Amino acid sequence: MMAEPRKFPHHLIREIFEQPEALRRTIEPRISPSDGLVRLDEVRIAPEELRALRRINIVASGTSRHAGMTGQFMMQELAAVPVEIDYASEFEYRNPMIGRGELSIFITQSGETADTTAAQREARNKGSRTIAISNVEGSTIAREADGFIYTHAGPEVSIASTKAFTAQMACLFLFALYLGEIKKTTSAESAKRYIGELRGLPQKTEAILAAADQVEKLAELYYRVDDFMFLGRAIHYPIAMDGALKLKEVSYIHAEGYPTGEAKHGPNALIDFRLPLVMIVTCDSNDAGSVKRYEKNVSNMEGFKKQGATVIALATEGDDEIPKIANHTFFIPKSPELLSPILEIVPLQLFAYYVAAKRGLDVDRPRNLVKAVTGE
Ligand code: BG6
Repeated sequence: MMAEPRKFPHHLIREIFEQPEALRRTIEPRISPSDGLVRLDEVRIAPEELRALRRINIVASGTSRHAGMTGQFMMQELAAVPVEIDYASEFEYRNPMIGRGELSIFITQSGETADTTAAQREARNKGSRTIAISNVEGSTIAREADGFIYTHAGPEVSIASTKAFTAQMACLFLFALYLGEIKKTTSAESAKRYIGELRGLPQKTEAILAAADQVEKLAELYYRVDDFMFLGRAIHYPIAMDGALKLKEVSYIHAEGYPTGEAKHGPNALIDFRLPLVMIVTCDSNDAGSVKRYEKNVSNMEGFKKQGATVIALATEGDDEIPKIANHTFFIPKSPELLSPILEIVPLQLFAYYVAAKRGLDVDRPRNLVKAVTGE
């Protein structure tokens, strides 16, 4: 007897819980059954052209741009190619020195965001090859691109993007690995190890969702607060940005995402008992860079606590150091540094949802926002 599909009070919480399946549908079809490596035929750009790329530009809006920011770390690490990120709405003013021999990736879950489709047209006119990452097959962005990588998240109804976002990051990782295999900057055995970790993400996401009640309890404590700051370093900074954006979008609480190391250049003046901090302090103990960043995060957290701040920490399972310092700790399953953002955003999506629901707001249709901004 098939289990009864779970009933959800809003699209947003249902879509957050659909992420394990959205990730499976996005990842599995791209793993070649013959050699277990990444296969991305829909990219439609010849390997020799991809091998010769001078630079990759990633252009997007809102949550999609946060996905692109994680993609920058993935591609630079796995494919040794310089990557630049741009707001789609700023792209035309930057007089982009984009041209031949470059690839521009346009990320838009709706595939119709005017800023992003306009930016793609400009990049193509300047001679750049383009790839679209979208959740809508046949959307404008995909039709006008050289190649595309679809997220298979299923229709995303809620205005705040969740399952499309984690699927976008999975697509960016698949592309980075594909590029790394083609350029041989990532060995076959390293690629296979990463693919194993990638395929394990849906299950780890399910484990996080099983602890959703812990996040709801946190939301009960903080849903009346008027300001939040989210902090993250390196590839975790885009997740701090998206955690803040989610909270802003659905609960109307002022929240900002900041690079942890940058807080001491100004924002620290705001940090006292009135400003709760969400700090991403996960650690991949197999990655020396991650361990170094973790040590800096611990020292920053101790400093903020001395200033009277309340700290909600996202830490890696098994970490018994952080709970001694933070006011609250939510644990994330162990994962390689480059993949942990896909897990870290899930408790932050849940937090934004529960806070907004407790504030009695229309979580699926926040005021002043639309699902696809088709005007510039
Ligand atoms: C905004 C939404 O209107 O558009 C954001 O509020 C979204 O949640 C942004 O990230 C970009 O949308 P798209 O379709 O280009 O990914």
